[in-house]
Amino acid sequence: MDTVKNILSTSFSLALARAYPTICDADAMIQLAKQPQFGDYQANFAMVMAKRIKQAPYDVARRVVQQLGTSDVWDKLEIAGPGFINISLSDAFLQTRLQLLLSDNRLGIPLSTSPQVVVVDYSGANVAKEMHVGHLRSSIIGDTIARVLDFQGHRVTRQNHVGDWGTQFGMLIEYMIQTKQQDTATRQITELNALYKQAKQKFDVDEDFATRARARVVALQGDDKQTTEIWKGLVAISKEHFNDIFTRLGIGLRDEHIRGESFYNDRLADLTQELEHDALARVDQGALVVELEGFIDRDDNPLPLLVRKSDGGYLYATTDLAAAKFRIEVLGADRIVYVTDARQAQHFAMVFAVLDKAGWVSEQVSLEHVSFGSMLGKDKKPFKTRSGEMISLASLLDEASERAARVLRDKNSDLSSTEVVTLASNIGVAALKYADLKTERIKDYMFSWERMIAFEGNTAPYLLNAYVRILSVFRKGCLTLQEVVEAGGRIVITNGRERELAIRLLELPDVVETLGKELLPHRLCNYLYALASTYHRFYEACPVLLADTIELQHSRLALSALTAQSLKQGLELLGIHTVDKM
Ligand code: ARG
Repeated sequence: MDTVKNILSTSFSLALARAYPTICDADAMIQLAKQPQFGDYQANFAMVMAKRIKQAPYDVARRVVQQLGTSDVWDKLEIAGPGFINISLSDAFLQTRLQLLLSDNRLGIPLSTSPQVVVVDYSGANVAKEMHVGHLRSSIIGDTIARVLDFQGHRVTRQNHVGDWGTQFGMLIEYMIQTKQQDTATRQITELNALYKQAKQKFDVDEDFATRARARVVALQGDDKQTTEIWKGLVAISKEHFNDIFTRLGIGLRDEHIRGESFYNDRLADLTQELEHDALARVDQGALVVELEGFIDRDDNPLPLLVRKSDGGYLYATTDLAAAKFRIEVLGADRIVYVTDARQAQHFAMVFAVLDKAGWVSEQVSLEHVSFGSMLGKDKKPFKTRSGEMISLASLLDEASERAARVLRDKNSDLSSTEVVTLASNIGVAALKYADLKTERIKDYMFSWERMIAFEGNTAPYLLNAYVRILSVFRKGCLTLQEVVEAGGRIVITNGRERELAIRLLELPDVVETLGKELLPHRLCNYLYALASTYHRFYEACPVLLADTIELQHSRLALSALTAQSLKQGLELLGIHTVDKM
């Protein structure tokens, strides 16, 4: 099923080609109308085209409108301002499209015609440390991206690039052995956190310990039995911790998605040799570096990418080069999406540049750093506890459900206490995720329990409640959502409120399509909020069960069902599950 935007784009592109046969690459630039009073959609190509062919935009627009003639899709095309074309869709078109949506369980969201293999690299927490808010954002945003691309029919490979290798493990393991705490069987992640801190302190002051820690790294790399055993124990505890968080958060990452830094360790020697051999890298004071154009350090000196230290050790970037190569060559990736905070922007830019320079990535493969800002506390500083510690995700999740439970109890006394508990954990998680996703990801955002748990405004509780309210309309009519959908009432547009809702409902496929390209989840959030508000206005103005005629009642029930389904599907793509009452 084609989206409204695509249907309009096709008609307009054909007309453009007929009006200007020598120009074959013009885009009709169709978008939803900025000001609904002038139309539903608009085409903005005339200004761009006019510049190219040195004519007045108004004349360009008129010529294309003449070519367009009449159609079932629109009632009216109007040229406004310098050359915008306002498009008013016909009620007949809206009705037919909505009827199609009603019988389509994808709600008109198209499957990609050219499905890709997409690697989504997200979460990426570090072994032996508790996950913190940075990993929370990556997990939430990455999971949404994976869900959306999956739904579009792409072959998504989720990769959890955990930090499970490097000098810090030599330090931690050595410390555990020295203090006779190497038994990992019963240890908790929080204890590892503490041990890690102690080990680091010792490492910084105790030269002898530092030397032994370095030797321990060599032992780990050399597969020494005792060292490897402890390391495996650390990995196992961490995995359990990650899985626990993922389950609670409803994040689709499992053990099979973990391909940590250690996985690539064996490939680093060959990789750096290849760079050296092809004269792409050179030795500089014992270290191996790749020179790159366009990167400078703080003092404006050229900044190369370091791929091997003078002591022979490899770096985070070296591993990322190996990982990208593996994903392209072995996993067959057409697109790799890295979800990390914005501070890693330069790291990825440099890694991408080296991949390009070495010819390891063809032009068909797209590498994208999906970056995000920080989560800030009320003091506008990075979100921490009062004592300045990182806030653990586990405690954040506990607080989310406690707060949601409180709000539920205040609002609705009909719920049993078990209902409150189950609902609260779902709503708490939903609120937490949604607050993160609704901000344009590149911006920092301020963490506020009050705002995210509120039933008013652009929040998860508001959207979940909008869904619940539609279900309760059905319940009053002794119907279920399923029954209304299956009845497939004939949709008729009889007033402006119905029309406004119709236009919104038909927009979802385009919103999802854009999301798959731009990877900006806040656009979907804004859409869902607009949809819920539009439904609210419709509901205030248009009696559903008490409509004047039975035909009208069926039509409005169908519009309500489509709204409920769109909310459910949209939230599902954000990794949020709807509830049936609250
Ligand atoms: N472990 C890294 C960190 O905590 C994130 C890994 C992101 N993925 C990657 N391929 N570098 O910052």
